Amino acid sequence: MRHFLTLKDFTKEEILEIIDTGLEIKKNLRDGIYKKELEMQTLGMIFEKSSTRTRVSFEAGMFQLGGHALFLSNRDIHLGRGEPVQDTARVISSMCDMVMIRTFEHSMIEEFAANSKVPVINGLTDSFHPVQLLADYMTMVEHGVEKDAVVAYIGDGNNMTHSWMMLAAKLGFELRIATPKGYEVDATILEEALLFAKESGAKISMMNDPKEAVHGATIVTTDTWTSMGQEDEKEQRVKDFKGFMVDSLMMCLAQKNAKFLHCLPAYRGYEVSEEIMDSHSKIIFDEAENRLHAQKGLMVWLNKQRG
Ligand code: CP
Ligand code: NVA
Repeated sequence: MRHFLTLKDFTKEEILEIIDTGLEIKKNLRDGIYKKELEMQTLGMIFEKSSTRTRVSFEAGMFQLGGHALFLSNRDIHLGRGEPVQDTARVISSMCDMVMIRTFEHSMIEEFAANSKVPVINGLTDSFHPVQLLADYMTMVEHGVEKDAVVAYIGDGNNMTHSWMMLAAKLGFELRIATPKGYEVDATILEEALLFAKESGAKISMMNDPKEAVHGATIVTTDTWTSMGQEDEKEQRVKDFKGFMVDSLMMCLAQKNAKFLHCLPAYRGYEVSEEIMDSHSKIIFDEAENRLHAQKGLMVWLNKQRG
């Protein structure tokens, strides 16, 4: 049995296999073929933070695979009132076939997984958002831009950045990260990513100048400056991230026809301009839709690992 907590536990081959599984299911869906690969299975979904895409994609995906998804908000279950994570894990995993969790501290999901009898999927923690990266890479493949990719990530050194680092490190592409001073990525995660990068040949570099990062990039990406749980810091962050908005002037420095990705939700006028959102809307919303297809691939793949 495997859990899906971060990309660091997966080989390049496994990541590509999950994405291929998702692409095949997506093609089948377009052809009107529904294979009930998770018939009679239940996915428990614990949400300690808000969500639009993650909730809808897992719930719709599970239904399309013949299973059922349960939305468990921490406002409603005892976890939110202090029932220990280990007890919650034992109970939920004795009734569900898979569990997806969106939470704050990454250690919570690790503790849950350690006490779970069924596969646990990370639907976002403060440190990582690996299911988003499955969708992002699937989108890169579909748009034919995965080969020789030079990805520039502009913004906060957060869960999305850490996940991009792991994806680049595992698959072996170039990733340049530009953050304002004081908003750099986690040093331990960087160290781990650099170790994997040595094996794969990935080039991962850090800087504080967004223009330097974007120069000649084939893909530019960003994320909100204020992640969930950081709302109190918003005012300060808006000041500190001055000059980090991805706008037309910045995109001009990237390669001609460079793509722009955003995990969404996007805050126009902050990390990205309205104009960039509009001119790249096709790929951005393909990326959002691919959450559904990539995660169906993931759930089917995880189910097969149980033997
Ligand atoms: N990108 C993403 O995870 O979106 P939600 O927060 O809406 O789930
Ligand atoms: N970094 C963002 C990602 C949202 C999908 C957050 O954690 O809020």
